[in-house]
Amino acid sequence: MGLREHLNKLDKTGSLLKITKPVSKRLEAGGVLKAIEPKPVLFENVKDSDYRIMGNLFCSKESVADYLGITTGDIIPTLNKAIEDRSTPEVIQDAPCQEVVETDVDLDKVPILFHNERDGGPYISSAVVVVGHPKYGQNLDFHRAMQIKKDLMSTRVVAKRNFHAFLEDLGEVNVAFCIGNTPNILVAAATSVDIGINELEIANALEPIRVVKAKTSNLLIPADCEWVIEGKVYRDKRHDEGPFIDLTQTYDVIRNEPLFEVTCITHRKDAIWQALLPGAFEHKILMGMPREPTIFRKVNEKGVRCLDVNVNPGGCSWLHAIVKIDKQREEDGKLAIEGAFEGHRSCKHVYVVDKDIDIYDPLDVEWAMATRFQGDVDMIVKDKERGSSLDPSSEPGTYLTTKIGFDLTHPLKAEGKTYAKANFPKVDLSHFIRE
Ligand SMILES: Cc1cc2nc3c(=O)[nH]c(=O)nc-3n(C[C@H](O)[C@H](O)[C@H](O)COP(=O)(O)O)c2cc1C
Repeated sequence: MGLREHLNKLDKTGSLLKITKPVSKRLEAGGVLKAIEPKPVLFENVKDSDYRIMGNLFCSKESVADYLGITTGDIIPTLNKAIEDRSTPEVIQDAPCQEVVETDVDLDKVPILFHNERDGGPYISSAVVVVGHPKYGQNLDFHRAMQIKKDLMSTRVVAKRNFHAFLEDLGEVNVAFCIGNTPNILVAAATSVDIGINELEIANALEPIRVVKAKTSNLLIPADCEWVIEGKVYRDKRHDEGPFIDLTQTYDVIRNEPLFEVTCITHRKDAIWQALLPGAFEHKILMGMPREPTIFRKVNEKGVRCLDVNVNPGGCSWLHAIVKIDKQREEDGKLAIEGAFEGHRSCKHVYVVDKDIDIYDPLDVEWAMATRFQGDVDMIVKDKERGSSLDPSSEPGTYLTTKIGFDLTHPLKAEGKTYAKANFPKVDLSHFIRE
């Protein structure tokens, strides 16, 4: 479909809020997006830039499924299939993302948002980053970048990322930060797969894409994105990065991160900047959703019938997972807990529920905990395990954390009271209420 077509579709269906009042990229745009989340917004009149800004485009599983033309229930099998059946994208010469090429780099002219007062600087938070390695080929993932000067940024590279492995190995890498992408590319970039797998091929399997050679390297990049910020990232040239809001909606600490020297900016003539609010729904959906297929696969590998997985926003879409199973044996709940922790190493709390529980309704999950759980028999506690650097409560520096699994499934044979939720008779209200 493409992002422009998707924007038009949102506009036609009245789902896009177009703001014509002048808005600044400094604090105002981020504030409006947060205040109106999850409504998609197009800022048509940006005070301090010649270009428009769009945001809140994909704040829910529904919005991603809608773009891909599937149901939310199909997202996990569709992602798993795209990983297995990945394919090579078409290479083109004349790409929309290179209609304008600027080698006299000035990042101040780009509508990079200054999101919050305490931030260390203006931040690119929506960039899908393409990087290459002579042995492993191309990798695609997300890295935030803080602007330091007109042509200089500092980028956050978490130690266990493939990008980090490339940088450690090569010392410096050519990169392309691509902004303004469709969900097939966003989700693929947010999916962790083995080093050597080019996530652009997963994106292509989700929905065919076109790629083009970058202007300053041989990298093949999404041809239909809006902006491309090209340059080099250095292992040994570093600069303080942060503070910035992280996935947990808390402020991340300042770290000394690799420098990103920008050497070329390309974009569409009427390019639109894609904003992505840190710690908000879009960030959460893109972080949590790609972990659901790996949890789903691991739980099934334990011989448990896994029906669905929700790495839910209440758990920062990273630290909690709710797993729905069709229980066949008493031990299935505990096996599913083990599978979930293997499928998502950063997960801290896992909740396993029966097939009659709605894993997207927090009240229903809590109801299962209240009526089907006993702490002395239905819990697995894993003391002092490696947790997530994102979790402010994990042990500083080591990130050691205590992981807990909650088996909220009821016994197959009920003794005493039944576990089923009683339902009231279904009625057609129109019989009783005059419109
Ligand atoms: C919106 C968003 C922002 C992210 N920002 C960063 C970041 O700044 N640094 C980082 O190392 N990982 C960040 N990530 C996580 C990785 O990009 C993500 O886990 C990716 O799948 C890692 O890919 P890899 O396994 O190929 O390394 C972000 C993810 C998302 C969805």
